[in-house]
Amino acid sequence: MQVLKQAEENLGKKGFLDLEVDPTLDLVKEINELKKEKNAILLAHYYQESEIQDIADYVGDSLGLAQQAASTQADIIVFAGVHFMAETAKMLNPSKKVLLPDLKAGCSLADSCPAPIFKKFKDKYPEHIVISYINCTAALKTLTDICCTSTNAKNIIDSVPLDKSIIFAPDKNLGAYLQKTTGRDMVLWNGSCMVHEIFSKEKIVKLQLKHPNAKMIAHPECEEHLLEIADHVGSTSSLLKYTRESGFDEFIVATESGIIHQMEKSSPQKKFYPAPPNNTCACNECPHMKLNTMEKLYLCMKYELPEVTLEKSIIDKGRVCIDRMLDISKKAGL
Ligand code: 13P
Ligand code: SF4
Repeated sequence: MQVLKQAEENLGKKGFLDLEVDPTLDLVKEINELKKEKNAILLAHYYQESEIQDIADYVGDSLGLAQQAASTQADIIVFAGVHFMAETAKMLNPSKKVLLPDLKAGCSLADSCPAPIFKKFKDKYPEHIVISYINCTAALKTLTDICCTSTNAKNIIDSVPLDKSIIFAPDKNLGAYLQKTTGRDMVLWNGSCMVHEIFSKEKIVKLQLKHPNAKMIAHPECEEHLLEIADHVGSTSSLLKYTRESGFDEFIVATESGIIHQMEKSSPQKKFYPAPPNNTCACNECPHMKLNTMEKLYLCMKYELPEVTLEKSIIDKGRVCIDRMLDISKKAGL
């Protein structure tokens, strides 16, 4: 709702959302021209539709995208991803215009941890260090000591002195996985991602029987019983690297299916099977990520709307945990 309200406030041009795109337009050409004309950079997450990934200046995971946003010289950042990612880019670039093709592109994980309720939870553990997965709202980042992504989470946890306990929010699956792999004392917020919780272990096991040579790879946002049967667990960029470098030729991919586009591009001779969800819909596609389309991207770049804005106090307080994360990642060579 807050996202929608912000959209209304930011649009400033009545009827923008209803504008229709001329179907004869070559959108790839138009978007490339707009990028040059406006000195805009297009950043896309691996879960975006293939056409958007192919036209982006940078395609990557949440950490790579934040690092690109932190170092860009462009005047405008166009974020083909979800709201919390564009907010992060805005916090890192308060004077730049940050655009998101559809402001309704939210995140079930970020939504599962409302800042006022989290504040009460945090108050129960005054001595704990708060580590939040970057998939959270800007307001939650103001209550966070250090941010992390699935790529650097272990490095971030290792940076916390051993005698300190940790609150990990909002993803309980990633939190439990980290608790298990680091052995640290952690209190977990009970949030989850609607896409990574939908995979069916039973159907995956059947798929493994059908493709006995396929390696099962999973994102740590998946539930523990799936991670237990995975041959490799990692962030989207780690999964991509594994498919490229491990020497195996077939993979069952337990994460959002958009990443398969990059896997096929970098290993065209290999086979990739999306892990099946526990129903018949295309639920291994993130409905939020997929709200962005080429048409919306074109309109957004043409009219420089909708823009993501944040109050200065939120930016000042919220970016501290992102800067700490970027510093630790740099020192770790990530
Ligand atoms: P990474 O980009 O860190 O792999 O996270 C995946 C995700 O769910 C992004 O929304
Ligand atoms: Fe959020 Fe999950 Fe979609 Fe990522 S895949 S944006 S965590 S709902």
